Amino acid sequence: MADDARLDPLGRPFPAVQDLLRADPRPQPWQLNAASYHDIGLGGVPATQYTGQDALAAEYARLWPRVWQMACREDEIPEVGDHILYEIGDRSLIVVRSAADEIRALYNACLHRGRQLRDCPGRVAKFRCPFHGFTWALDGQLQETPTPWDFPHVTDGNFRLPEARVGRWGGFVFVNFDQAAPPLETYLEDIPSIFERWPMEARYTAAHVARPIACNWKLAVEAFVESFHVTDTHPQAASYIGDFNTQYDVWAGKRHYSRMISPRGIASPSMGEMTQDEILQSSEPNGESLRVPEGETARRAMADRRRAVLATVIGAEEAERVTDSEAIDTIQYWIFPNLVVWWGLAAPIVYRFRPLGNDPGLCLMEAYLLPLVPKDKPRPKPAKTTHLDIEQSWTDAKELGGLGAVFDQDVSNLWAVHKGLKSMRGGATTLARYQENRIRHFHDVLRGYLDRDA
Ligand code: FES
Ligand SMILES: [Fe+2]
Repeated sequence: MADDARLDPLGRPFPAVQDLLRADPRPQPWQLNAASYHDIGLGGVPATQYTGQDALAAEYARLWPRVWQMACREDEIPEVGDHILYEIGDRSLIVVRSAADEIRALYNACLHRGRQLRDCPGRVAKFRCPFHGFTWALDGQLQETPTPWDFPHVTDGNFRLPEARVGRWGGFVFVNFDQAAPPLETYLEDIPSIFERWPMEARYTAAHVARPIACNWKLAVEAFVESFHVTDTHPQAASYIGDFNTQYDVWAGKRHYSRMISPRGIASPSMGEMTQDEILQSSEPNGESLRVPEGETARRAMADRRRAVLATVIGAEEAERVTDSEAIDTIQYWIFPNLVVWWGLAAPIVYRFRPLGNDPGLCLMEAYLLPLVPKDKPRPKPAKTTHLDIEQSWTDAKELGGLGAVFDQDVSNLWAVHKGLKSMRGGATTLARYQENRIRHFHDVLRGYLDRDA
């Protein structure tokens, strides 16, 4: 730890993120100008929450049927008839654009003898079951009954395809199986107003990559919502990420989101003394020749370089207003239970995680890159989804650029964490009070769902 590191009341090393924000002369957006530590104790998580068959069954019974979950981006289904399949556990929905401005989520099961209506995403004019030919319109209305003389008991009214609820925010399509759940706008709490500054609907899908991971889905989420692991897992980045300086925000009374702000352009307190030039040079591949201008910091120089790139996308005037933090820091919101969205303009990343089948030790991780649609340009066509298999490297998805190698570092821990938890003595994890408080908050909220009656 650097000699001049002082500690605040929670024990965190300086500089705090709020100090760094105050050092920036640009007006700070209200979203960033406060930190919130919510004391929810020091508890850890029982290992069986990750490894147990019962825990997975409880989540399938009481969590997934009740929460709003991101099913797709709207730009994945741009034309009427376009649909994707959203699958969670044994449940499958056809998420379809049923009219120009209408999206529906139909249960993917024929009402005749139950065949799934669609086996893959695509574009259709109607849903015709491949088994005997019962056919429904895109809005779920029955259109055709084969041999109607033999189905006197089937009427249009009693043979509509059942639907889950659909909500839309920020270019995302959300679904919810629970007809009694609060609407999406309520569920998202302050997220829509927080994102007004950088609207998610102004973004397009430049990459979408999915890969199974041999660990519980919660372990995978948790690996992406703290920066505590940077020094040991991503040592190449500790020279320009203030991992232990990260601000973690959990707000009393807010159940469905938390945040972290991980500052860049300062070295981790785990590094020895570094010059500002060394910090800047380490922040870019082939950055050896970079120099911090006289009187400036590496942080400001990094932000200036980022603003120069952003100027080509959003225009010079708009880029000039982007604060240092918005330009380079990892500012990341976690929307309960499984969606993580980066805010600001440092990197346009979104993660989604969910369990796969009935193995608690298997999940699907997806990464989206959602850059801003360039100013005055037409919206680019969305990228096709790349499906990696469980043995593949994230670097096989070239569209992720340098992120692939970073994800490989993250994933290299995860199967080993899952395995370790199975033989852990003591039976529970030990979470940091501050740096892992978002994980504690997650489990607190999760418990609230699981403790409700099925
Ligand atoms: S199962 Fe679908 S038409 Fe028979
Ligand atoms: Fe990581």
